[in-house]
Amino acid sequence: MEQINIYSGKKAVSRIVTGDTITGLEACLQPYRSVFAIVDRNVAEKCPAAATLMEILKRSKVKVRFIDSSEQTKTLESVMDICAWLLDNNADRDALLLAAGGGITTDMAGFAACIYKRGVRFAYVPTTLLSQVDAAIGGKTGVNFDRYKNILGIIRQPAFTYICPQMLESLPKRDFLSGVAEMLKTFVIEDNGNYQKAADLFFDIQSEFHVEVMMYGKDEESVWKGLLQKHRKSLNQLIAAAARVKAGVVSRDQFEKDERRKLNLGHTFAHAIETLAQKEVLARQDSSIDGLSAEDLHFPDGVTHGEAVAIGMVLAARLADRYYRNDSNETTALEAKISNDLWDCDIPCYCPYSIEELAAIMKKDKKAEGDRIHFVLPRSIGEVETVELTLEDVCILMK
Ligand SMILES: NC(=O)c1ccc[n+]([C@@H]2O[C@H](COP(=O)([O-])OP(=O)(O)OC[C@H]3O[C@@H](n4cnc5c(N)ncnc54)[C@H](O)[C@@H]3O)[C@@H](O)[C@H]2O)c1
Repeated sequence: MEQINIYSGKKAVSRIVTGDTITGLEACLQPYRSVFAIVDRNVAEKCPAAATLMEILKRSKVKVRFIDSSEQTKTLESVMDICAWLLDNNADRDALLLAAGGGITTDMAGFAACIYKRGVRFAYVPTTLLSQVDAAIGGKTGVNFDRYKNILGIIRQPAFTYICPQMLESLPKRDFLSGVAEMLKTFVIEDNGNYQKAADLFFDIQSEFHVEVMMYGKDEESVWKGLLQKHRKSLNQLIAAAARVKAGVVSRDQFEKDERRKLNLGHTFAHAIETLAQKEVLARQDSSIDGLSAEDLHFPDGVTHGEAVAIGMVLAARLADRYYRNDSNETTALEAKISNDLWDCDIPCYCPYSIEELAAIMKKDKKAEGDRIHFVLPRSIGEVETVELTLEDVCILMK
């Protein structure tokens, strides 16, 4: 087991524990007298390691509530439900709320813990790659509101995050790749040689997957699972490396006053893409919205957070080039590299929306500060810079 701390000044305020199996969680729970758990129902039903997780919770006398997670139910109402359940079960100020699930579950349960009785302690067992490398680290909690993503929330650190790759074995391939996009984003920000290692590993996994499935007609799910097991050691090392990068940035700037902003690489574009894609889904249900009809869907299966970040990262690389060189309409080396690596990992990163469509949404984005918006621009792999730009500047540069 490895432990990575998040600091506030010299004080460790949160710890990230990485363990090969879920059994290590039991020791982490030991110091807590009264523990309540929110568990994603998909995890409980599909993840082989969930049986051991449930045994640990039973032995530790933890009360458990299962929830369904979706962006549509990532709402204040769901947070209130969690608080009501805590009240019904007499959770006092000494309680620890444990959340086992992906970013939706940890964001919601974390938020509930922050407001219940003015704040109780909480901890996470992230069960998606995206939450292991990103969402469950750094203390951002929150919910969607009024069609804006994560617009309501609080930054407060979990007592601990227990990262266990066993929990990923049941994760659908598409959700797994969503996490790969966030991992690559992390290494574009701070490399230490890990970006290329990650790109190579996931390219290899993808190539092996295609050979087994396309050439030998094997079952996709079991091939995928087998490949994750085969490459578990390299994967674990990369997950821990990404967690270390995020922990370091958060320790230096917990409340996103400065350096932490760089973790938003690709996200300003990504949020706009997610909003537009969501509008399309609504249009499918109601063809009168904004004149969109079901035939206009760019993302018939929706877009995952990581997929949106992948597209956003490519757009950020293009913007960086236009901003720094100011004379280029060509696809640049960095944009080409990032998008080729993403495609090689089977992560689609083509943006179907115009810059004007994106800008209209970004205008309302929560990160808008007056006229200017922070954009994180990659200069090279491992080097990013945050600049403030108006949307008019961005539209001109990206034309
Ligand atoms: N707090 C932060 O700093 C932060 C950072 C990035 C993203 N986020 C948030 O995270 C959310 C996305 O989270 P996510 O992509 O981790 O996952 P998720 O919570 O959206 O889950 C994706 C799907 O996978 C299922 N699932 C989860 N774990 C599984 C497992 N082990 N086996 C089978 N199915 C499983 C879930 O039930 C769900 O259907 C977004 O709402 C985003 O805003 C938060």
